[in-house]
Amino acid sequence: MYSEKFQKSLAAVEAAREANIALEPRRMTAQEKTDLLAAYHPDYKQDEFEVLQIGPNKGDKVPKELAKTLQAHSRITADCVDLETPDYDVDVLVIGGGGAGASAAIEAHESGANVMIVTKLRIGDANTMMAEGGIQAADKPNDSPAIHFVDAFGGGHFAAKRELVQRLVCEAPEAIQWLSELGVEFDKTEDGTMVTTHGGGTSRKRMHAAKDYSGAEIMRTLRDEVLNRNIPVVDFTSAIELILDENGNAAGAVLMNMETKELLVARAKTVIIATGGAGRMHYQGFPTSNHYGATADGLVLGYRVGAKLLYAETLQYHPTGAAYPEQIFGALVTEKVRSLGAKLINANGEAFMRPLESRDVSAASIIRECSTRGNGIETDNGLAVWLDTPMIEKIGGEGTIEKRIPAMMRMFGKYGIDIRKEPILVYPTLHYQNGGLDITRDGMTTNVKNLFVAGEAVGGIHGKNRLMGNSLLDIIVFGRIAGKSAGATCKNVTVGKLTLDHINAFEKEIADAGIETDAVSPKLLPDYTRNVNA
Ligand code: FUM
Repeated sequence: MYSEKFQKSLAAVEAAREANIALEPRRMTAQEKTDLLAAYHPDYKQDEFEVLQIGPNKGDKVPKELAKTLQAHSRITADCVDLETPDYDVDVLVIGGGGAGASAAIEAHESGANVMIVTKLRIGDANTMMAEGGIQAADKPNDSPAIHFVDAFGGGHFAAKRELVQRLVCEAPEAIQWLSELGVEFDKTEDGTMVTTHGGGTSRKRMHAAKDYSGAEIMRTLRDEVLNRNIPVVDFTSAIELILDENGNAAGAVLMNMETKELLVARAKTVIIATGGAGRMHYQGFPTSNHYGATADGLVLGYRVGAKLLYAETLQYHPTGAAYPEQIFGALVTEKVRSLGAKLINANGEAFMRPLESRDVSAASIIRECSTRGNGIETDNGLAVWLDTPMIEKIGGEGTIEKRIPAMMRMFGKYGIDIRKEPILVYPTLHYQNGGLDITRDGMTTNVKNLFVAGEAVGGIHGKNRLMGNSLLDIIVFGRIAGKSAGATCKNVTVGKLTLDHINAFEKEIADAGIETDAVSPKLLPDYTRNVNA
């Protein structure tokens, strides 16, 4: 189903397929990877970053779109709500209805706390729902949390906080068990053994999956559990400002009904930020694999009350976003496609890299192939490379694609592309926020008491690059940690007088720094009626 202009390149891919299946492209050396990243990875494009002039990370560089939203005005003034008569009064306020927020709410509820979820869309409208390839856990005899630690820590360029990676990998097997017991249907062989595969940068097959809709299966289960427990969910309502108490501790949030714009006050003994990622910020103009509400809200909420960010300058561009057809531009093509044997091929039919390098290296390698090497395929959306999906059927046998990655088959099938017979066109897409709010091993921010964070809004778990399957894992592990910690902490909290004084203090910082901006934040939703980065 490809038009005439792709035919010459397609013929080269087909002609070289058998030889490319047999080919084992060599591993890049550490130096080659370092040089490649410096030259081609978007994180290294200096003119796309800006130094923060105010706030706890003053002096640090972040993407310029993020700088704009972090250094923006509040949506409200400090005196616009009545803090004396809150609309909600809870032990644990969870902001965000994705996998991390749901896991946190379940554990906080389990600890006996009075917990409420507030979410700007509906529960489950989150990146969790869109995660495809799987969730890592070292639970096979040839594997161990220590080996998982080495993979994750190395993949993140040795920058992650060790105590966070340690909890991530050590609590992974239990996370899988917890999910299974809640009802997640992981792929299993006939004797009940979990099917596990490789991801980029893994030295063992430890990716557990529910076909290629692992996140949807996990979110379905977590959402059911939240609803079965009758945990209140206030949907279509965003948190637009955190509330502190007179002692400087987190003590709730100002909420805004997304439809009526009515403002409400939630008082809470503890607050958990689980607002997810930032793909809809479209850094550097990239398309995204993220859901509609991924606009870095949690980073803004935390930053304005003084919580520190860690590695906010590092983003993940998933190597294989759909580049064609236009209707699915930027959508995720799961790494599992490469785990199952498909290779990345350039316009001339050459397999130009080892398919399962870590994500930043793979993305940079594709960008190099399309830019300086001039080996990309031109589409209406820009350049791309082939991902040779028919290899999967040749390696794994007929029916492998339908059985293991049916969602991919459907996504392209809708546009007349049968991925069993034809390769697909891919290019990096903005996928994940590696950095975020800095937390302790118990999930509390390092410098605002009673404020917890879980999921993609956290920085430091993955260092400067995350491996596939460690995100679904971290939302469960750190969601549960945040829920348990907040549930325990709230028992000893007496909330002082509520204040929004930090809004005035932040306004003063903006003025003192001479920042002239008409931006307000959090952004909440992308504005596609204007330039995406406006
Ligand atoms: O490629 C994928 O399926 C994405 C997984 C992840 O980001 O962990």
